[in-house]
Amino acid sequence: MVCMNNQLAPLNQFVAEMTELLSVPRTEELILAEGKRLLGALVSSDRWLPPEYAKPIPNKYAQYLLYCDPSERFSVVSFVWGPGQSTPVHDHTVWGLVGVLRGAELCDEFTFHDGNVHCLDDSHILNPGQVESISPTVGDWHRVSNASDGISISIHVYGGDIGIISRHRLSENGEIVDFVSAYDNIHCTVEMALPDPAEFDKLPT
Ligand SMILES: [Fe+2]
Repeated sequence: MVCMNNQLAPLNQFVAEMTELLSVPRTEELILAEGKRLLGALVSSDRWLPPEYAKPIPNKYAQYLLYCDPSERFSVVSFVWGPGQSTPVHDHTVWGLVGVLRGAELCDEFTFHDGNVHCLDDSHILNPGQVESISPTVGDWHRVSNASDGISISIHVYGGDIGIISRHRLSENGEIVDFVSAYDNIHCTVEMALPDPAEFDKLPT
């Protein structure tokens, strides 16, 4: 499904800017820094996400693919948590950015070494407009929970098609198991409307 209306302008703009950012090789440090700024702008407004991508699912958190780059350089996903829902402890294996759009999220940090996953006793709340980075180099293991009494929504960006990437989570028994997250939808909502490339001259290299 392709939905064209002005409501999606912020998302289209974000996709265009991320596409330009990743159009040439850049360091992960720069991608995370510039991507954080771009995602921060996207989640500074809560008026663009279509309702069908903001719906919770009973008994699990929802993951709606909003956009996947044709070359799989990045994907944009809406995560929706109902009250009391959380992810398992998991990793990503690629760089990622998490920006809270609605509600609040509790992030518990973990680390992997010596063949095991260890709790870092580092937990923090992300509120609307806040963005944090994840990656195998800056910290890749965490658990995210809904910290509000209502629905919480965050927009995630990953350095690949995260729905098909094989990664890891902790099972209920505390064992590290492989998993592929997939998506709770299979269609893309973004109609590309790339701005004039000249507008991107200011992007760092
Ligand atoms: Fe995650």
